[in-house]
Amino acid sequence: MSQPPTLLADARCFALLPCAGSGSRAGTAAPKQYQPVAGVPMVRHTLAAFAAVSRIARVLVVVAPGDGVLAADASISVAACGGATRAESVFNGLAALRAQGVRDDDWVLVHDAARCLITPAQIDALIDACLPDAVGGLLALPLPDTLKSESGGRVVATIDRDHKWLAQTPQMFRLGLLHDALAARAATGFAGITDEASAVEAAGFQPLLVRGSAQNIKVTYPEDFALAEAVLRSRTT
Ligand code: CTP
Ligand code: MG
Repeated sequence: MSQPPTLLADARCFALLPCAGSGSRAGTAAPKQYQPVAGVPMVRHTLAAFAAVSRIARVLVVVAPGDGVLAADASISVAACGGATRAESVFNGLAALRAQGVRDDDWVLVHDAARCLITPAQIDALIDACLPDAVGGLLALPLPDTLKSESGGRVVATIDRDHKWLAQTPQMFRLGLLHDALAARAATGFAGITDEASAVEAAGFQPLLVRGSAQNIKVTYPEDFALAEAVLRSRTT
């Protein structure tokens, strides 16, 4: 394992929301993050959860070039620097945070705009767990189901599910560490980098696993919208 950075007591927390995808699996006409869920565009629920966490100094939303749906306000910045992949959108967003004065020793919580069921309590739990940690970590869930390996539509193996977790977001790392970890993969087009932790792992660190919630789904397929809507409505009644 590489040498982790030293702990700094005055580090601040920022959020970076990749919101530049097209939602090709969702089957919606417009990008899924703007699809109405329980009355408002999906990303509005995500933003509301982060706005309720007092330790988040500011939220940066990374949208696609030319996307003017979201307006900046006192607590939200919008950067139209989305890239061809999620990793590239995050990498570009980190540069935008730096340009705004965020320091390498500040913490960044990267969270999918499409994970609109995240709660302030889960964000706080991740911050509590990671602030004293030298590396940082992510919300994740121990694999609940039996895992199969497939070939040609048939099961070829059952994978031992012990010690296997499903990675969620937010994922919380220091800006400098995450930037350098992603920069090291940029030349390959971020091949194999499907979340922040995978880049940090490739740099030789071991991110902390913090137990999340099964409700923290990433809205991905058409049927996920009704599920997200039902959960959100159940919270307001
Ligand atoms: N994302 C992004 N930039 C990209 C691709 C994805 O900012 N080039 C964002 C999405 O907007 C989403 C999050 O990353 O909030 C997680 O990605 P995913 O759920 O895969 O969304 P899409 O890539 O939009 O969906 P799909 O893969 O079905 O096309
Ligand atoms: Mg995608």
